[in-house]
Amino acid sequence: MFTAAPMRDDREGYGLVTRTLHWGMAALFAWQFTTGIVRVVAEDSPVDAFFWSTHYSVGFTLFCLVVLRGLWGLANLHRRPPHAGPSQERLAASLGQLLLYGLMIVIPPLMIVRAIGLGRGFTVYGVQLVAPGEPWADRATFAPLADAHVILAWTLLACIVLHAAIALYHGFVRRDATLDRMVKGSSALPLNPGPDRP
Ligand code: HEM
Repeated sequence: MFTAAPMRDDREGYGLVTRTLHWGMAALFAWQFTTGIVRVVAEDSPVDAFFWSTHYSVGFTLFCLVVLRGLWGLANLHRRPPHAGPSQERLAASLGQLLLYGLMIVIPPLMIVRAIGLGRGFTVYGVQLVAPGEPWADRATFAPLADAHVILAWTLLACIVLHAAIALYHGFVRRDATLDRMVKGSSALPLNPGPDRP
C-alpha cells in the first residue's frame, strides 16, 4: 500500500522537508563553489562572467534557505534521529553540524553588509533589495569582511567535503542507517552494526 513520505522528521529518519532542503542546498552549494573556483582559475574570462553573475543571487538564496533550515531543525529537534556510534562520535557529529550551520549563516551577510556599506546597494535576480546610497566608509574599512568571507567560504568547502566523506563511510564501509536516513528517509540497516556483522 502507498503511504506518503512524512513531512516531519522522526526517530527513524529525516522527513521530506529536511531532505529537500538538504539536497537542494547541496546542489546550490555545488553551483556556488563552482562560481568561486572558476573565479580563481579563470578570472575575467567569459565563463567567469557567466558563473560570477549568479554569485550574489545564489549566495543570498542559500542564506535564506539556511535560516529556514535552522528554524525547521529547531522545530524538529526532539524528533530527529539519533547519531550513530559511541558518545565521542555522537558529540563530534553534533559539533560538526553546529560548525557547518555557523559557517553557512555567517558567510553571506559579510558580503551583503559590505556591498550595502560601500554604497553599492544589493540586487538579487534583478530585483533591487537595497538601493545604492552613500557609502558608510571606504573600501579599506570593509576589507576584513571580504577577507573573512573568502577564508570562511573555503573553510566551509573543506568541511562539506569532510562531511560528505564521513556520510559515505557510514553508508558504504560501516553500512549503518546514517546515509539512508537522509537519502530515503528511513533505513532497514541498524544504527550501530555489531562487531560480527558482515
Ligand atoms: C553561502 C554563500 C556563499 C558562498 C559559499 C560564497 C563563496 C565564495 C568564495 C569561495 C569566494 C572566493 C573566490 C576567490 O577566492 O576569489 C567568494 C568571494 C566573493 N563573494 Fe561569495 N559566497 C557566498 C555568498 C556571497 C554573497 C551573498 C555575496 C554578495 C553580497 C558574495 C560576494 C562575494 C564577493 C564580492 C567575492 C569576492 C571577494 C574578493 O575577492 O575580495 N558572496 N565567495
